[in-house]
Amino acid sequence: MAHFSTRGGRSKPMGMLKLLNDSGKSSGVKVSEFTGRSTAEEVVKDWDGKGIVVIVTGPYVGLGKETTRVLALRGAEVVMAGRSKAKADVAMAEIRGGNPGAKLRFMELDLSSLASVKKFADDFRATGLAPNVLVNNAGMAGAPFALSADGHEMHFATNHLGHFLLTRLLLPDLEAAAKASGVQSRVVTVSSASHHTPYPGGFRLESGGASKKGYDAMKAYGSSKLANILFTRELECRLKDRKSAVTAVCCHPGVVQTDAFRHVNRRVVKVFFWVLRKTMAGYRTISQGAGSQVYLATAKEVEGGEYYVDCAIMPTSELALDRALAVKLWEASEEMCKGYLNKRGSEGE
Ligand SMILES: NC(=O)c1ccc[n+]([C@@H]2O[C@H](COP(=O)([O-])OP(=O)(O)OC[C@H]3O[C@@H](n4cnc5c(N)ncnc54)[C@H](OP(=O)(O)O)[C@@H]3O)[C@@H](O)[C@H]2O)c1
Repeated sequence: MAHFSTRGGRSKPMGMLKLLNDSGKSSGVKVSEFTGRSTAEEVVKDWDGKGIVVIVTGPYVGLGKETTRVLALRGAEVVMAGRSKAKADVAMAEIRGGNPGAKLRFMELDLSSLASVKKFADDFRATGLAPNVLVNNAGMAGAPFALSADGHEMHFATNHLGHFLLTRLLLPDLEAAAKASGVQSRVVTVSSASHHTPYPGGFRLESGGASKKGYDAMKAYGSSKLANILFTRELECRLKDRKSAVTAVCCHPGVVQTDAFRHVNRRVVKVFFWVLRKTMAGYRTISQGAGSQVYLATAKEVEGGEYYVDCAIMPTSELALDRALAVKLWEASEEMCKGYLNKRGSEGE
């Protein structure tokens, strides 16, 4: 069990600049007609979302909002899972401006709080909706050191742990929806090419990253995005073992100018994106960036456990292939979520 076997395989070690250039090319395993220039709307143009329920985390700005908009455009009912009803109301009004019949509903979710994740799962179940797709899109990047309500480093808590618990709690619902509809359910997690630049060895798991000493904001982000891939791969192995009707996949959206960069100096961001737009190295518009995640949410066939960029399977870092590290992360995450993982959230039932 040393390594996950994937069609993407492993990439050569790379620095940050090389990483941006690489993410701009479609040098992965081509599995679809779409490329990094395909917009999310183009990707879903032939998809019929009527009767499909999708949960999107971080749904009112950036990639999450575009994902919500185009899936609703094809008739899906989208549950917008986020922290701010006010922001969701603004986004809903905008989306309904172009699609008055859009089926949207807001439900409160703060991924940095395990209690909030559990409450969301309970509230969601009370709606009686059957979810076919969970898009784990929400994320934060490069923020100053902070601890979550549960005492974990904030990037790890928000980007990984909250989504780990959310997925685990919703798995029975995703499985039930797949059985009822005959459509395979999906867990789509938005990772990043930054998974190539985590803390040495991957994580600071012993403390849940809770120590300020040695904190590095971009490494903390990189580690949380590495966690997204390891979680996806380990989940997929466990789902396959029990012949589940749910598939787990992940992606990198390209480099997209969104609020994700709000913790970085504004001038630096401006210059950075100006250069990227000129060179087109890995640069994607919001609509192109959302293309990969809507592809994974809607394409008839996707390959479970794979990491996609520009709708193609891409290699990952060596650490993202390390099964032992994935199991260690899984067990540590379970321990951190102890008390919130009820029987319904345990796979193997
Ligand atoms: N943009 C890029 O270049 C890029 C590159 C690689 C990967 N990604 C990934 O793409 C995903 C979407 O990012 P984006 O670029 O669209 O960024 P964004 O515009 O900043 O959107 C992030 C979303 O996550 C939500 N969020 C943050 N913390 C949360 C929490 N504790 N609970 C619930 N929701 C929370 C935000 O809501 P609030 O307004 O409530 O904070 C917001 O809706 C992220 O996972 C990011 O890591 C982005």
